[in-house]
Amino acid sequence: MLLRSSLLAAGLYAAAPALAASADDWRSRAIYQLITDRFAMSNDSNTPCDTTERRYCGGSWQGVINHLDYIQSMGFDAVWISPVSANIEGNTTAGEAFHGYWYQDITALNTHFGSPDDLKQLSQALHKRGMYLMLDVVVNHMAAPKMPPEFNFQDFFHPFTDESYFHQPPCFANDSTTDPNVLEQCWLGDPNLPLPDLNTESQTVVDLLQKSIHDIVQTYQVDGLRVDTVKHIRKDFWPGWASAAGVFTMGEVIANDTSFAAPYTEVLDAILDYPSYFPMVSAFSSPQGQFGPFISQITASQKAYKNGLFLAGSFFENHDQPRFQSYTKDVALVRNGMTFPFIHDGIPICYYGQEQGYQGGSDPFNREALWLSAYQQEKPLVGHFKTLNAARKAAIKSSNGQFLHTPMKFYAIEQNSFAVSKPPMLALLTNIGSETSKSIVWNVPQAGFQPNEELINIFTCGQVMADGQGGVNVRSEYGMPQMLMPISAVQGSNLCPADPKRRVANMAGNREKMLSGAVLFGSVLFFFFRFWQF
Ligand SMILES: *[C@@H]1O[C@H](CO)[C@@H](O)[C@H](O)[C@H]1NC(C)=O
Ligand SMILES: *[C@@H]1O[C@H](CO)[C@@H](O)[C@H](O)[C@H]1NC(C)=O
Ligand SMILES: *[C@@H]1O[C@H](CO)[C@@H](O)[C@H](O)[C@H]1NC(C)=O
Ligand SMILES: *[C@@H]1O[C@H](CO)[C@@H](O)[C@H](O)[C@H]1NC(C)=O
Repeated sequence: MLLRSSLLAAGLYAAAPALAASADDWRSRAIYQLITDRFAMSNDSNTPCDTTERRYCGGSWQGVINHLDYIQSMGFDAVWISPVSANIEGNTTAGEAFHGYWYQDITALNTHFGSPDDLKQLSQALHKRGMYLMLDVVVNHMAAPKMPPEFNFQDFFHPFTDESYFHQPPCFANDSTTDPNVLEQCWLGDPNLPLPDLNTESQTVVDLLQKSIHDIVQTYQVDGLRVDTVKHIRKDFWPGWASAAGVFTMGEVIANDTSFAAPYTEVLDAILDYPSYFPMVSAFSSPQGQFGPFISQITASQKAYKNGLFLAGSFFENHDQPRFQSYTKDVALVRNGMTFPFIHDGIPICYYGQEQGYQGGSDPFNREALWLSAYQQEKPLVGHFKTLNAARKAAIKSSNGQFLHTPMKFYAIEQNSFAVSKPPMLALLTNIGSETSKSIVWNVPQAGFQPNEELINIFTCGQVMADGQGGVNVRSEYGMPQMLMPISAVQGSNLCPADPKRRVANMAGNREKMLSGAVLFGSVLFFFFRFWQF
């Protein structure tokens, strides 16, 4: 024991797991994020799940295992599951702990989701498919349904059985707090549901946290960690903890400000790209959205983060933010926005339900049960994700991995459109929307293609020829995004196969528009007929 804790104190865990996935192993991955309670039930029964009740709905690790085909067939090769440790039981002022973020015992699993064996089997099932397991973990705090002294630390928290393991006396902080003392020393939550803040200045607490993460990663053969509330712990806590974990770490630092977020990229492998998220959603959600501030934020992060934006988690939705379709249901805006994370320098993330077109607003509405969608494969956005993942893999392969080390560059920035280049990909994006009569033209003289190179728009399989300087000049259709790649780069992938019968799958993206086109054509015929009969 003595030896163990001195090893812990010295942070000598780094060499531990032979199979552990490093940051570089994650670079090419695409992540599917899910809330275990809401993704799939073990028995696939069609149990209702009212998000407003904030109760356990019955999803489990076995349910995830049963639906790995669904995730993998969209092209995702890593799954981020919600926290697995034992949480407070029963109802609270904010409902039950179905999301997993209210820890009570970091040495035990949450039995609502299954047994230790089920979690091991999930890890094995993923590895058998060549996929990675990412666990969501909370390090900053525990949770209680009341304030001390109404509960006794000794009976309530494991292994943090003493009051001195927590920052005292209690004071409250939140996401908007900026004063570092308050941010790191005060508790999250509120007096009805406090999140007692671990005393991460105490060496005993540091040792216990390091031992716990080391054991969890080893026991369940975890490949990477999404780390909750990172900005609420002193920065120099993190390197030792990350080294005890021994796998890729991606931290949640909720911030709008690149200069606030950047130092955390020095102490963990990467962060979720929150500073780009807020201006991105605002830019894509209407024709009034501003691309300028969004692009400045991105280019600032490319400069300020340790690895640029490489390895940053690039997400368009998650469990803490309103779903994009709660802002707008315009199919063109949705498709433009969700395309961006796949040409972003970082690791693209899909939040479960995004592919089914879920529209829930802020928590708890954004935590819908996926089984109520019946996991339909024919949904248009399922097809969009398949295409995006296939395109990114083709870009990686055809560039011999260079794509993963090439920073994206922005061109042709206009009021309602811009182009982003990351060879061999060129994305042409717009927020003009599908209802517009205004036509968008992307004129990109420095698109970086070969002179007169044959290109393909991977969403429609339509062909475009680069000009004599390798530039392009392309008009938008129905406000839809375009992603151009050289035909030579997509050969051998599932994208736009030469056999027209196999193209049907790729065209799914345009089905909605084709349908509305057919309706319009039908109405014109109808009126023509009426007129003619007169
Ligand atoms: C399915 O599992 C849930 C939760 O474990 C349970 O409540 C329900 O009765 C089961 N349904 C069937 C049809 O077995
Ligand atoms: C849980 O507690 C809250 C507040 O105390 C209450 O509003 C809610 O109805 C309770 N939910 C259930 C299912 O009992
Ligand atoms: C966050 O905490 C500050 C005090 O630290 C308080 O003034 C503010 O109202 C809180 N914000 C929210 C959203 O709770
Ligand atoms: C970031 O900015 C957005 C939009 O202005 C705002 O809604 C959000 O609360 C801000 N978040 C933080 C953490 O400051």
